[in-house]
Amino acid sequence: MMETRVVRAWGDIERDRSLMEEAGRLIRNGQLVAIPTETVYGLAGDALNPASAKRIYEAKGRPSDNPLIVHIAEITALDRIVAGIPENAEILIKEFWPGPLTLIFKKSAAVPPETTGGLDTVAVRMPVNSIAAEFIRASGGYIAAPSANASGRPSCTTAEHVYEDMKGKIPLIIDGGEVGIGLESTIVDLSGERPCLLRPGYVSLKRLREKLGEVDTDPFIEGVMDENAHPKAPGMKYRHYAPKGELYIVRGDPESVRERINSLCRDGKDKGIKTAVLASDETADSYRADIVRSLGSRQDEESIARNLFKALRDMDNEGADLIYTEEFDSADMGMAIMNRLIRAAGHKIIDCKRKEQK
Ligand code: TXA
Ligand code: MG
Repeated sequence: MMETRVVRAWGDIERDRSLMEEAGRLIRNGQLVAIPTETVYGLAGDALNPASAKRIYEAKGRPSDNPLIVHIAEITALDRIVAGIPENAEILIKEFWPGPLTLIFKKSAAVPPETTGGLDTVAVRMPVNSIAAEFIRASGGYIAAPSANASGRPSCTTAEHVYEDMKGKIPLIIDGGEVGIGLESTIVDLSGERPCLLRPGYVSLKRLREKLGEVDTDPFIEGVMDENAHPKAPGMKYRHYAPKGELYIVRGDPESVRERINSLCRDGKDKGIKTAVLASDETADSYRADIVRSLGSRQDEESIARNLFKALRDMDNEGADLIYTEEFDSADMGMAIMNRLIRAAGHKIIDCKRKEQK
């Protein structure tokens, strides 16, 4: 088995120089390196090398029809990999790059089909995280990087999570500490007639519409689970982020949600099942379960987004069999948070109100 080293980076060009040189050498040799970004950790390989894409799919255990995002460090790098830059793209790039927004373009011949899962489009993102940017520059400028989790598991928000999933599979993990956002980038498809949101993230639909006017939304955002269906972002059809225990979202007014979750946890306990609740600072005290975990304050939805994936991983580490979560349908990040939770729950939602009306 390959030895996997975890090395701390500081986001300082001088201090990180030898690490970045080593990482760049690995990438040019077709190897993989895990890196921090502002959203989640990425599993990086050379985006223009078909062999690197194959290695990425292998290390993640990911189906190879699921295309990879190409990461760049300069806006001028875009020209080489896309067939053209529509006006909509110029507007979004000016406003949101570098940052947590991925744009989909018609691709140029420079991008191998292995990187795009055979599609004639390419997803591109320019991360704002300085360690990621230094790394991309040291590696030749074009990095394919899916989230660094093993396929199906929650994305990684710390280098320790990457080590759990990639130990023995890649030579180097660059540790940049805990990420800032904690959910993957917003994805907008600009390759069609009208702009279309394929994956919600930190850059909200509201902000996109402020800039572009009309923006469509892919129906798969709500988490359709049909493996035979064809969402525009192929990754959206796979079950994702799933903890080993059974996860249910419990929806309704706070009082009914509390009563229902506590009653379900009592039932679970009677059967000798280990129960868990994902709650908020405002509500955590009112639950009775083996594990009660607050994701953060409802006044601070960014904290909830940042803590979500770690909480799902902790459920596995603590051996939770049955997990109930509150809904986090908050103003700006709610769409992104619920998109991940619905997928993690395999679409299992308990609606308190609807049940009572029957
Ligand atoms: O924040 C992020 O975007 C992170 C960090 C590491 O940058 N990366 C990430 O990559 O989330 P990944 O591979 O886990 O998710 C990429 C998503 C998948 O759902 C994939 O299907 C979609 O983007 N995608 C990639 N290229 C596409 C394309 N050409 N057309 C449509 N969807 C595409
Ligand atoms: Mg992913």
